[in-house]
This record gives sequence, C-alpha cells and structure tokens, in this order.
Amino acid sequence: MKLKYFSHSAFQITTDEGKVILIDPFLDGNLTSPVKSDDVTADYIILTHAHGDHLGDTFKIAKKHNSMVIAVNELADYCIANDVNAHNMHIGGGHNFVFGRVKFTIAHHGSLSPDNHFGGEPAGVLVTIDGITIYHAGDTGIFLDMKLIGEMNNIDYALLPIGDNFTMGVDDAVKATEFLQANISIPMHYNTFPVIEASPNEFKAKVESLGKKAIILEYGQEIDL
Ligand code: NI
Ligand code: MN
Repeated sequence: MKLKYFSHSAFQITTDEGKVILIDPFLDGNLTSPVKSDDVTADYIILTHAHGDHLGDTFKIAKKHNSMVIAVNELADYCIANDVNAHNMHIGGGHNFVFGRVKFTIAHHGSLSPDNHFGGEPAGVLVTIDGITIYHAGDTGIFLDMKLIGEMNNIDYALLPIGDNFTMGVDDAVKATEFLQANISIPMHYNTFPVIEASPNEFKAKVESLGKKAIILEYGQEIDL
C-alpha cells in the first residue's frame, strides 16, 4: 500500500490491489499541490467535511472517474444532489468496503460547503487497509477523546493539522500525538495560505523529543506503508 501527499490535507492511498482512495482532494485551487485534478483518478473519495479546501475537486474527479464519495450523511446527500455517487455514513460508524474499513470520528470544526450547504458534522476518519490503520484528523482542535481513539485503535499513521488559526497548531498537535499513540505522525494543513504558516520541522522535533516518530512528507511525495 502507498500513501501520497499532495499538500494541505489532500492524500492518496493506493492499495496493493490497485484501488485508489483520495482524501480531501483540494488540488486545482491549491497553489501548493504539484498534482491537479486532471492528473488523478479515484475509485473512492473520502471527505472529512464540506469546506472548499477539503471538498476541493471532488465533484469533477468523481464525475470523470465514477468515484464513490464516502462522507457523513448530510455531506454525502449534498454530493448525491450534485450527481455524484456517495455512501452515507456518520460519526461513530464504520463500514467494510471492498478495499478496507472506514470509520468516522468526531472533529471540532465547521462544515459549510462553498455554496452554503450544511455538510453535517465535520469528521476525522480511520481507514484500515490490510492491517494498517491511518487516522486522518480532518480539521479540528485538540480533544480529549483522541485518547479513546488511540486506546481503541492501533494507529500506524496519524495525519494531523498543525497550521493553527483554523485547527490545532504545532503544540496542540504534539499533545495530540501523546493521546493518539500513533506509530508515526505526519503533519498536514500548513503553509497552504499565509494564515496557516507553521513549521513541520518544529512539529517533528517536538514529537521526537517525546520519543515518538514523525515524518514530513514533501508535496507530491509517495511512501510505502
Ligand atoms: Ni475546514
Ligand atoms: Mn481546512
């Protein structure tokens, strides 16, 4: 399985069976992403919430490739209303897809779409494929239930926002790594816009000072999990 980082909160998972899963594919309007929507394909698109920097190019990609969007109920319905296939879920619920398991978790944030449709509650997501669990926190402040998420799931990779202003900043994200107890933490949602400038190196150093591992993915970099 492979994990690719486009920048911001946009990732691509490619399974050993060749299924492609995008998370929050904000590409065309994202100046930091070296990959644009015309360059990607998707079997599934997982959305954490409806904000434009997460919904991104979902409709364009999903219509072109007949992708299935996976999102909380209100956001999934919004996708269906825009002629996109979707699987409706909600926070606390998990579902076994052909590629693996998806479970939505809480996130403290908003979820209004760019054209002012309420996207339901914002979410984080646990994706488990071939025994490897990835936690994508979505946009959120820190919350104590991250401890429970860490206790109940053996998280291999935690993708955590560090950009501050709209989400956790570096110090809160470092604290979150203590709660989550992930094997490896990866910073996201930083340096896309001036207001979310943050240092991934500071995050990495602080996580390592706690005896845990963090890696910084370059924009466009793909790693083997
Ligand atoms: Ni947001
Ligand atoms: Mn965001």
